[in-house]
Amino acid sequence: MSTARKILVTSALPYANGSIHLGHLLEHIQTDIWVRYQRLTGNQCIYVCADDTHGTATMLNADKLGISAEDYIKGVRKEHIQDFLDFDISHDNFHSTHSEENEQLLYLIYERLKKAGQISQHDVDQLYDPEKGMFLADRFVSGNCPKCNAVDQPGDNCGACGATYSAMELGEPTSKLSGAAPEVRQSKHFFFKLSEHSDFLNKWTRSGTLQTAVTNKISEWLDQGLQDWDISRDAPYFGFEIPDEPGKYFYVWLDAPIGYMASFQNYCANQTDIEFDDFWKPDSTCEVHHFIGKDIVNFHALFWPAVLTMAGYRTPTSIRVHGMATINGEKMSKSKGTFINARTYLNELSPTYLRYYFAAKLSGGVEDLDINLDDFLQRVNSDLVGKLVNIASRCAGFINKQFDGKLTRQVQCDLLASFSNQQQQIADNYESGEFSKAMRSIMALADMANQFIAEEKPWILIKDPSTKDRAQQVCSDGLNLFRMLMIYLKPVLPDLAQKAEQFLNCGELQWSDLAHHLTDHRINTFEPLLKRIESRSIEAIIDAGKSHEKSAQGATTSKDEAADPVEIDIDTFAQVDLRIARIIQAQVVEGADKLLQLTLDLGDHQRTVFSGIKSAYSAEQLEDKLTVVVANLKARKMKFGISEGMVLAAGPGDKEIFLISPDSGAKPGMKVT
Ligand code: 2FM
Ligand code: ZN
Repeated sequence: MSTARKILVTSALPYANGSIHLGHLLEHIQTDIWVRYQRLTGNQCIYVCADDTHGTATMLNADKLGISAEDYIKGVRKEHIQDFLDFDISHDNFHSTHSEENEQLLYLIYERLKKAGQISQHDVDQLYDPEKGMFLADRFVSGNCPKCNAVDQPGDNCGACGATYSAMELGEPTSKLSGAAPEVRQSKHFFFKLSEHSDFLNKWTRSGTLQTAVTNKISEWLDQGLQDWDISRDAPYFGFEIPDEPGKYFYVWLDAPIGYMASFQNYCANQTDIEFDDFWKPDSTCEVHHFIGKDIVNFHALFWPAVLTMAGYRTPTSIRVHGMATINGEKMSKSKGTFINARTYLNELSPTYLRYYFAAKLSGGVEDLDINLDDFLQRVNSDLVGKLVNIASRCAGFINKQFDGKLTRQVQCDLLASFSNQQQQIADNYESGEFSKAMRSIMALADMANQFIAEEKPWILIKDPSTKDRAQQVCSDGLNLFRMLMIYLKPVLPDLAQKAEQFLNCGELQWSDLAHHLTDHRINTFEPLLKRIESRSIEAIIDAGKSHEKSAQGATTSKDEAADPVEIDIDTFAQVDLRIARIIQAQVVEGADKLLQLTLDLGDHQRTVFSGIKSAYSAEQLEDKLTVVVANLKARKMKFGISEGMVLAAGPGDKEIFLISPDSGAKPGMKVT
């Protein structure tokens, strides 16, 4: 008798700087299928995730919205949780890296690394934006390529000749944040001594923890020699401050993977039978698996195991790397409408389709996965509707109408044994992440079930009293075949499986239920389980993607770029109470560089709002101007007083801030619709 495994599973933590899109879903669906398979077979499998909240991008996004980074990440996390839930992703916990648990674990790990002599410090030259008052990551700088002189190239590699370089090498560099010419300044940075871990990592990465292709890629990096890893960033930065080093922050990539542990710890706090240490102590017999994309392998397969070991924790059992999602053979593109957000998809289609399509294409390797939209429609309609659901709908009607919902006392069909014989193969394919092989086997079984029904022709058998019993037998056997297929597919299609359990009246199906059949059993009335995908739904998704592109200000999958605005629905928007207001007084706020204090007339009352528009307007310019105010914004306590709303303005900042001003006929208090 095998004992249940204790498994902790994670997906990479999505950045809190944009919406969940199909790229994230590929990973979360892949992970979720594996997790659900483990649970279905009786293993204890805990699946945690969190938002990856820290870094410059979060800070800049929050600034742009005029809200605190904390408020910003709260809103994003809520949206992410809902998106994942609606895709049937079964996280046991979805936490945040901006949490107490993460801060404490980070400090503990840092202290242990320090004690172990693993932290060094030295000065680093870096580009500094004198207008923004901050150091610039390479991606915030553009200039002339040092190799080919092409103008306006990004700070890390040249779009014209492909050269890679550091932003310091660019000719005539410009800050993308302010347009200013950056200066070179020195600053003290902290480093983790990764270079000391080559031997350990050479062994660890060849110890069966990684797919072969990943091990090979990493061995190239190891052969080139490892550099120490810069784990600090200068203020201003949204993150955790380094103890005793004012103005120095931990780089987001140090605290992000610790977020896996923090989310698990937060989960353990409410569990009586699960201990954090059991999973993380060096000699743990529990398993830890990280599912990630191939773009972040270095962080997970080099930095992370070295940090964990030096801090006295176990290393992961495996890191499961997948390729990137492409659409119609190309990178997801906003202008083509193929940068598809989770919510845009959900507004048109059920998650079941995408879950199946990903499963049908996931190989367990690191190749990119192409979502070909025509193939998506064809394959899902043909496999799920044409084959799978068809078995149930062909058999259920006769059982419901002609036999009072009753299945026969025995099963007879030989196919049931063939179905059962496949279970080890299908299980192995789930375990190794070869979901496409599992789906192929399962659909081949579905073909056999349909063929059996087609050959037996219950619709003819039912007409003759002498063969009516045979019709009941064929349909009972057919429904048992369908039930076995649903057990096999339950990790992929939890929603469909639940509907099937309800109609089969069979309780929650487990893998072990493959060992017996439903006999002498009454089923419930059959309701259609799944509709075909219509091509107009796919067109609607693409159109919605294109219109987002027109209204959005650029999306990103990268930490330090500006991000997609969070998408809201019309009902949420309707909750925003926009009103016309007249600025009856504007005052300079002593000690505040950017703020003006505005007294607003809203028709039936007045209120005070602090607004960051001082760089563009003098107090006198504003008096008596009409503008638009968010009237139902929660009052916010600021350093200089309470702000009771927000006035609307546009523009990149500094001199270019433009107050939204309605035409002169508008009256204070009018609702903006
Ligand atoms: O690449 C990314 O999307 C990162 N936010 C992943 C972090 S994974 C982990 F290390 F936290
Ligand atoms: Zn170049």
